[in-house]
Amino acid sequence: MKILVLNGPGINMLGIREPEIYGTETYEALLEKIRLHAEARGIEVTCLQSNHEGELVDAIQRAYFDGTDGIVINPAAYTHTSIALLDALQAVRLPAVEVHISDVSRREDFRQVSYLRAACAKTIIGHGTDGYTEAIDFLLRL
Ligand code: DQA
Repeated sequence: MKILVLNGPGINMLGIREPEIYGTETYEALLEKIRLHAEARGIEVTCLQSNHEGELVDAIQRAYFDGTDGIVINPAAYTHTSIALLDALQAVRLPAVEVHISDVSRREDFRQVSYLRAACAKTIIGHGTDGYTEAIDFLLRL
């Protein structure tokens, strides 16, 4: 089982960025949490973070060709703007889970729209970084 974990703009700034919303855990700590989880489950997990929409599209397309079984994606601000990421997920038809660290349902109006949700089997919001490991387990159960 091979899973790709994708993070969009600003997720590399975890721990620094608005800790009252996103917590104090760093991006490196998130990577370590995911690595340990993958090891415990005996699966291969690759993580990629980018501040650039096209790089995220490229990564989704690559996943189709390299035998990836599922995608966990926190598109960050691109959640609320990106038809390109929606199209990319719909093109590859890999099972995907949308993750948000914060509870976007309780935030600004512009965060209530998710362009990607239509292409995701599940959305996990507001569970902090545990949302990523929950998303991986969901993909394992599929
Ligand atoms: C986020 C929520 C988005 O609205 C925001 O733009 C982010 C992070 C989250 O993980 O809670 O960058 O995706």
